[in-house]
Amino acid sequence: MKIAMVGTGYVGLVSAAGFCEMGYRVTCIDIDPNKIESLRQGTIPFYEPGLKEIVTRNSEARRLSFTCEYGPAIREADVCFIAVPTPSQEDGSCDLSYVLSAAKQIAQEMSGYCLIVIKSTVPIGSTDLVKEVIGKTLEERKLSIPFDVVFNPEFLKEGCAVQDCLKPDRIVIGAENTKSIEIMRSIYSPFTLNHDRILVMDVRSAEMTKYAANAMLATRISFMNELSTLCEKLGANIHDVRVGIGSDPRIGYQFLYAGIGYGGSCFPKDIQALLKTAEQAGVEMPILEAVEAINQRQRLHFAQKILSYYETRGGITGKTLALWGLSFKPDTDDMRQAPSLTLIQILLDQGAHLKLFDPVAMENAQKIFPPSHRVAYAKDEYEAARGADGIVLLTEWKQFRFVDFKKIFADLKGTAFFDGRNQYQPHEMAAKGFNYFCIGHTPSSPLKPLEEALQIS
Ligand SMILES: NC(=O)c1ccc[n+]([C@@H]2O[C@H](COP(=O)([O-])OP(=O)(O)OC[C@H]3O[C@@H](n4cnc5c(N)ncnc54)[C@H](O)[C@@H]3O)[C@@H](O)[C@H]2O)c1
Repeated sequence: MKIAMVGTGYVGLVSAAGFCEMGYRVTCIDIDPNKIESLRQGTIPFYEPGLKEIVTRNSEARRLSFTCEYGPAIREADVCFIAVPTPSQEDGSCDLSYVLSAAKQIAQEMSGYCLIVIKSTVPIGSTDLVKEVIGKTLEERKLSIPFDVVFNPEFLKEGCAVQDCLKPDRIVIGAENTKSIEIMRSIYSPFTLNHDRILVMDVRSAEMTKYAANAMLATRISFMNELSTLCEKLGANIHDVRVGIGSDPRIGYQFLYAGIGYGGSCFPKDIQALLKTAEQAGVEMPILEAVEAINQRQRLHFAQKILSYYETRGGITGKTLALWGLSFKPDTDDMRQAPSLTLIQILLDQGAHLKLFDPVAMENAQKIFPPSHRVAYAKDEYEAARGADGIVLLTEWKQFRFVDFKKIFADLKGTAFFDGRNQYQPHEMAAKGFNYFCIGHTPSSPLKPLEEALQIS
């Protein structure tokens, strides 16, 4: 079985390499000639643990190849995946133009039966639209070539995408006929030797499943963030609350971490797209609207903590802050919709000087915030902290857990540590001399009487 992968980004490249690991031959097509050229030279355009090894191995074995040309790759493919972007439009709705353009280009080159598989996250009803575009294009070519379109959402997580791809928890297939279901089962059979993880359903339910999964995960994060603000006010500790509720197997521990909110290329845009779809369908989704609003509020709430601290110390203007972690989460260099972007902008607007460090995302960060007299990039977390008035942790990279705080503290000018990801023990940080602030717990300030906290007169 020969596979064409249209779109060679996070999803396309990881999936293509994953299929090659199972023995398939895959040609990756992308409209970005620089990306294709660097992949041919063996350079991976983004950071993803373990990806370089499998791309190199399969390129050398000639199972994986890269091209900008649709023609030959589509004509010889039995199955053609679409993994192109589906970004937000200005009004929050999903921009389907990349998917529809890819579908058209595929139809312009098809020469025999082909199964087209949409992997991009698309609004409910989009698979039908893709089918229409392909049918219309074939009609214009005066050809009657049989084809099927199925929806096969991607659930990989950046940072452990290779493992997620090779060992998926589930493979959702939205299809409407037996032939396409059989082909999909056959393609994924090497991934399901251990046990069957294939879930077949109708196309619209599969499209909804992808959005529902992201919406559910974002809801858990925003719920904990909402609770964390109340915990701060009333003297509870969100960490203990998480453990207390997570031990209930109906709830579980995962995705219950309070912090500075979610970011990345998926959650923010997918939640907005689902809200827009609901609006177009005349259905209100107040829970999801709140999820999005709380996520925005959480970033501002954290920024406010930093600003308030310096307000009583001569203001933040001219102060230097070390920022640890810039990517939207650890183990990726992806800066799309990262909470750090909001924080950096607020701190710069308020006149702060910033020394930024991230283990892998600095190149991407520099494209957004080029070095200037108020923005410097440090070679590590120690250099960032040296001489700074405070440290702000924005991404919970593992390497920040094992720093030599004695050295950091000695080199720091101020004493403040703002932990946006609750990575440290408040009492330990206090014992080291830091003025430590985290999320959902206010260890350093004495508890106010409850009446005062609740503003009851
Ligand atoms: N990144 C993730 O973690 C993730 C996870 C699950 C699902 N998704 C979904 O997968 C889709 C792709 O996301 P991504 O993060 O891989 O995007 P990406 O931006 O990393 O990659 C997309 C690639 O498609 C290429 N492209 C655009 N139009 C094209 C065309 N007409 N023909 C060929 N190539 C074209 C771009 O040049 C780019 O290289 C999106 O719908 C996204 O929501 C992403």
